[in-house]
Amino acid sequence: MSELTKNVNGVLVTEEEAREIVARLGKQVSEDYAGKNLVLVSVLKGAVVFMADLMRAIDIPLTIDFMVVSSYHKTESSGTVKIIKDLDTDLTGKDILIVEDILDTGRTLASLIEILKMRNPSSLKICTFLDKPDRRVSKIEADYIGKVIPDEFVVGYGLDYDESYRNLPFVGIYTPED
Ligand code: IMP
Ligand code: MG
Repeated sequence: MSELTKNVNGVLVTEEEAREIVARLGKQVSEDYAGKNLVLVSVLKGAVVFMADLMRAIDIPLTIDFMVVSSYHKTESSGTVKIIKDLDTDLTGKDILIVEDILDTGRTLASLIEILKMRNPSSLKICTFLDKPDRRVSKIEADYIGKVIPDEFVVGYGLDYDESYRNLPFVGIYTPED
């Protein structure tokens, strides 16, 4: 077993499936946002791989922007969101699509949505690559979902454990050693 896949046991999304998901979501977003002022807003760092793939699967004009919010420590979500790096874009009158790696407890997105709503966008929706509904504590759902997954801690395709594994081209299940 290579160093890159240490403690990774089981594949939840293969590279091929990731490509299929991205193509499907890209087509859907292209249709739904035709003629609008689409801005893809991504939360660093987990969503960077999905963002890079998704934006190239969308064939209508768009702009992108990035935010950094309070970090996710190891396997525990930190709760409320603190903006560490804000957007450069004025959201007034724009159609914002938040691009996320995974919707887990929903705490991060729930507070982010509240913050972004106050900036008067024309619309504000969520596109998440993965959805873990079993873990949800905040009342929040994504408008576009790549794949619903069981309650497992996953890594790869941008997702990390302690900053590692982001460059795995597939999504695998992380199982720590005892
Ligand atoms: P939430 O606020 O609990 O919905 O999750 C916030 C963030 O935690 C996500 O955007 C991910 O960056 C991270 N996260 C949640 N679940 C996982 C996981 O299974 N693996 C890696 N990161 C995760
Ligand atoms: Mg994230």
